Amino acid sequence: MTSAADNPLRDPLDHRLPRVAGPGGMVLFGVTGDLATKKVMPAIYDLANRGLLPPGFALVGFARRDWADEDFAQIVHDAVRDHSRTPFREEIWQQLAEGVRFVAGDLADPAAYQELKTTVAELDKSRGTLGNHAFYLSIPPGLFPVVLQHLKTSGLAEGQAGSWRRVVIEKPFGHDLESATDLNRLVGEVFPSGSVFRIDHYLGKETVQNILAVRFANAMYEPLWNSNYVDNVQITMAEDIGIGGRAGYYDGIGAARDVIQNHLLQLLALTAMEEPLSFNSDDVRLEKEKVLSAITVPTEIDLHSSRGQYTSGWQGGIPVKGFLEEDGISPTSTTDTFAAIRLNVENRRWAGVPFYLRTGKRLGRRVTEVAIVFKRAPHLPFAQTAVEELSNNAFVFRIQPDEGITVKFGSKVPNTSSIEVRDVTMDFQYGDSFADSSPEAYERLILDVLLGDPPLFPRPREVELAWRILDPVLDRWAENGHPDQYVSGGWGPHSANDMIARDGRTWRRP
Ligand code: BG6
Repeated sequence: MTSAADNPLRDPLDHRLPRVAGPGGMVLFGVTGDLATKKVMPAIYDLANRGLLPPGFALVGFARRDWADEDFAQIVHDAVRDHSRTPFREEIWQQLAEGVRFVAGDLADPAAYQELKTTVAELDKSRGTLGNHAFYLSIPPGLFPVVLQHLKTSGLAEGQAGSWRRVVIEKPFGHDLESATDLNRLVGEVFPSGSVFRIDHYLGKETVQNILAVRFANAMYEPLWNSNYVDNVQITMAEDIGIGGRAGYYDGIGAARDVIQNHLLQLLALTAMEEPLSFNSDDVRLEKEKVLSAITVPTEIDLHSSRGQYTSGWQGGIPVKGFLEEDGISPTSTTDTFAAIRLNVENRRWAGVPFYLRTGKRLGRRVTEVAIVFKRAPHLPFAQTAVEELSNNAFVFRIQPDEGITVKFGSKVPNTSSIEVRDVTMDFQYGDSFADSSPEAYERLILDVLLGDPPLFPRPREVELAWRILDPVLDRWAENGHPDQYVSGGWGPHSANDMIARDGRTWRRP
């Protein structure tokens, strides 16, 4: 198996050179899904447009459609035109389009995989892909076993000596700990661990990677980053959208499985982990696993968690439907569209500091942030200070959409004879400091797959540890029946405020 280190185009010691993928291609399963058309195909084009793909890159679509290569190329073209981040350039598109192929067939039909094999071999000759191919499973998880089995029996999973085969798996990685373990075993029977890339697209976001950079490249935060100074940590991923056309995926999955199990627990791990020995994949993942292993869920789950379902309301001045009225959702569905939990990290650094995680659809606005909320100053010596107006100091990673960092602290109000202190913020905006706009998470992750660079991809143990944390919460919620309701456009159900108020705290209003 070759990896980034073997890539002849890249000198791993020269950090000034852009990382460019060597010869290879991608086979995409699930070509008509939202993810493929809105994220994967546009990201491939954006990479090509930035000169980071080899000129002979090949993209093969595989689906049960009666399409020729040109029909699939048109689908890719439209997806790129509508969703790519960088401007559309005809010459780049033409070069990419020459490497587009389509294999029509049923995912369960062995003959289709033989045809795929022939196509891949033809590309090795016509496009110089050298036997290097990644299989991207952008399909419902229920179909993983059949596809993996066929990739194995057809011989597609194994390349010739000196070439590589990789598999990319999209979440959900299972439905609970047991199914995740089964899935990991199944994948492991077909691909060696270094060839398996599990996508958690949050890890591909620049602002998420910046958590480690800020924590470990600077001297001034580390002394404060512990239970001596931190009162609590709040991780919020709020979305203003509803479930859109994703009823089939979302109903029965819900907010906690959809994003807490992966994105939010990854954010927690990066925020709370110890400094890794190095930034190579094993060292970073080891530290994340250690912190995930130290997480406990409070025993009285009902008091320290909240789950909700949106009802109709207003969003941006437009009336919107409730979850139970959405197309494709059963009117008796108990799926959560909002979830909040308190977690404890039982280690020396964090003992006694609650980590509050919350996420929801149809909330007040789209915002993802990690807020480190500090303890209040032990004593405030100013007479006539509007102390009650002061809130806790906070350090906030603004993950999106307004990417940056905010530090909140108290400052003297000018022109007051006595010292009067009020909350102010100091803001870092990416756009002000860096000229380049950030690549999309999928650009980064797809490039990493093609380069065989694994640090940003969770390994099986991380996935299983995350389910170990969530399983008892999900089991308890399943016993409780229906989630609490909340009005679209608000900030979640009352129970979310109650759970944090029980600890004498409030949610930040992002
Ligand atoms: C996905 C979830 O992983 O992340 C979606 O399945 C969610 O439900 C999406 O909408 C949000 O991604 P982003 O990058 O817009 O925060």
